[in-house]
Amino acid sequence: MEFGAGTGKLAAGLLNALATLDAAFETYSIVELSGELRERQRETIEAQAPALANRVRWLDALPEHFEGVVVGNEVLDAMPVRLFVRADHGADAVAHDSRESAPALIGHTINGHTLNDHGTHGAAWYERGVTVAADGRFTFADRPLASPADAALLAGIDADGGYVAETHEAALAFTRTVCSMLTRGAAFFIDYGFPRHEYYHAQRAQGTLMCHYRHRAHGDPFLYPGLTDITAHVEFTGIAEAGVEAGADLLGYTSQARFLMNAGITDALAEIDPQDIEHFLPAANAVQKLLSEAEMGELFKVIAFSRGISETLTAFSRGDRSHTL
Ligand SMILES: C[S@@+](CC[C@H](N)C(=O)[O-])C[C@H]1O[C@@H](n2cnc3c(N)ncnc32)[C@H](O)[C@@H]1O
Repeated sequence: MEFGAGTGKLAAGLLNALATLDAAFETYSIVELSGELRERQRETIEAQAPALANRVRWLDALPEHFEGVVVGNEVLDAMPVRLFVRADHGADAVAHDSRESAPALIGHTINGHTLNDHGTHGAAWYERGVTVAADGRFTFADRPLASPADAALLAGIDADGGYVAETHEAALAFTRTVCSMLTRGAAFFIDYGFPRHEYYHAQRAQGTLMCHYRHRAHGDPFLYPGLTDITAHVEFTGIAEAGVEAGADLLGYTSQARFLMNAGITDALAEIDPQDIEHFLPAANAVQKLLSEAEMGELFKVIAFSRGISETLTAFSRGDRSHTL
């Protein structure tokens, strides 16, 4: 069962790999919210894995129980996050009283001082909400924290000055749902992110929210609503806790490079004749991109949960970082 299959490229690749390995499977189910992407997935799979296309199903609702393997590549990062902001103590402060009249924007400075909820100087946290401005556009509107749980989490951030942080309730709920549904098998999530202590680090003061429109990165989530892809890095400690809370075992957590090397990606590359430039070069480039620390090898992580199975995985045999979560 694959969540958020995007273009369907990973699905086609997995189907072909399952066929090569002669691995028995009944169906390849895809859970996709976007009707347009479902169509794209169907086309990709029919073009790239035609012999297995009839085993693919698109699900409208999750089954109560599932036995098998769950995969989600770059799905957790697409789930909605909540934003929190703390103004700087110093000259770049955002004045609290500006929040009533005009919603504060990241980097906006007024009068060089900060008043917190109690009307005294000092940095207070605000939840960064959304409102519609007079010109009809979406804009940020900061409001005092309403939940003690949010306040407790944010109070734990060991950093001075201005800070933007995200929390990931939707991704946590999603992980709990998947791990509760799983009766026997494993669930793999691949995404960019860090454990909690790195995520809420003093040096990551700008948060991780990122937007993409037509392959261009930008920082404005209100640009082209519905067309801009909005993502945030994944906080993997929370994901691990959510899966375990739902009754699953943490199977492993490591970098994408380590996971793929343990799983034998270099042996797979060695099977291609280097003289066969047409096949070898694109494969070598792809492997380099997946493994390189400067590209996807280190920032991307793999976390996996299991339930009802006792096997360990070769892919986590070396360099498992579960203890860092
Ligand atoms: C960046 S794409 C994933 C790429 C794809 N998995 C691949 O490996 O090529 C993000 C996907 O997540 C899907 N998505 C976002 N939120 C989702 C949710 N709550 N449940 C299921 N899919 C979701 C999107 O529709 C899209 O297919």
